[in-house]
Amino acid sequence: MDIAVIGSNMVDLISYITRMPNEGETVEAPDFRMGCGGKGANRAVAAARLGSRVLMVSRVGNDMFADRTIENLAENGVDTRYVSRTEATSGVAPIFVDKESHNSIIVVKGANAKLSPADIENAAADIEKCQLIILQLEISLETVYAAIDFGRDHGIPVLLNPAPAEPELVLEKVKSVDYFVPNESELSMLTGMPVDTLADIENAAGALLDAGMKNVIVTMGERGVLWLAPGHEPVRIDATKVEARDTTGAGDAFIGCFAHYLVQTGDVRAAMKYANAYAGLSVTALGTQTSYATKDAFLNYLGE
Ligand code: RIB
Repeated sequence: MDIAVIGSNMVDLISYITRMPNEGETVEAPDFRMGCGGKGANRAVAAARLGSRVLMVSRVGNDMFADRTIENLAENGVDTRYVSRTEATSGVAPIFVDKESHNSIIVVKGANAKLSPADIENAAADIEKCQLIILQLEISLETVYAAIDFGRDHGIPVLLNPAPAEPELVLEKVKSVDYFVPNESELSMLTGMPVDTLADIENAAGALLDAGMKNVIVTMGERGVLWLAPGHEPVRIDATKVEARDTTGAGDAFIGCFAHYLVQTGDVRAAMKYANAYAGLSVTALGTQTSYATKDAFLNYLGE
């Protein structure tokens, strides 16, 4: 097994809107798609489509979305032995995508909130065989912290993407991760520092290195990606220029692809470049996982 994703799954209910309704108002939207999503599942599927062997530790509910979520992960080659059913609704995410392709997302965690440290212990024998653990924040912080400790205690590198932004996240408890991958607003929330300019972002990321972090990789949307690590100059890669149709799940595409190439090559810079291109490609298509390329399609896009 290459990668363990300990995290969320959702059913995405995506409305393509011309504008948000005002309070008490009903507006018509031109299009709608339902698809599988959730930040954890999205990364698992992206990495698996690129060829990684991925194990998912997650919880679904006891409703009509649960079967489809497990089926979808399996269809994409993700190992679902540790996706368990629980007495709750499955996670759902009503999403609104506007004419400029920007999204607003409501997340109802449902069963995801019940993913617990005991679920990690239950999957321990298989997580131990992985070369990277991917974490994000649509599950309880207690479980995130337990997963970080598990990785550290078993010598497995941990990648944490602190999304969605969570004010309760405690730096002290996450600073041992090997790869910390926030966007600008998550970086600002955790450090309490401004992130308006590139220099601001470098300062804020630098503060995390001073606090003991090993690799801080900031995804900056149209400004590209920035990597800081102790002992070398910052590395910045420009964003891929594309015609965006739907940016939903682009961050997850980045992480899934980054994790895949990191595990395959051990080369952070190369993994960043591939992930940047993969995320760029994803925003040219509608939907979340529906916009993630397979390995062949991606290599074809890159001309490799
Ligand atoms: O990052 C995009 C994801 O955020 C969507 O798939 C939605 O489910 C929410 O988790």
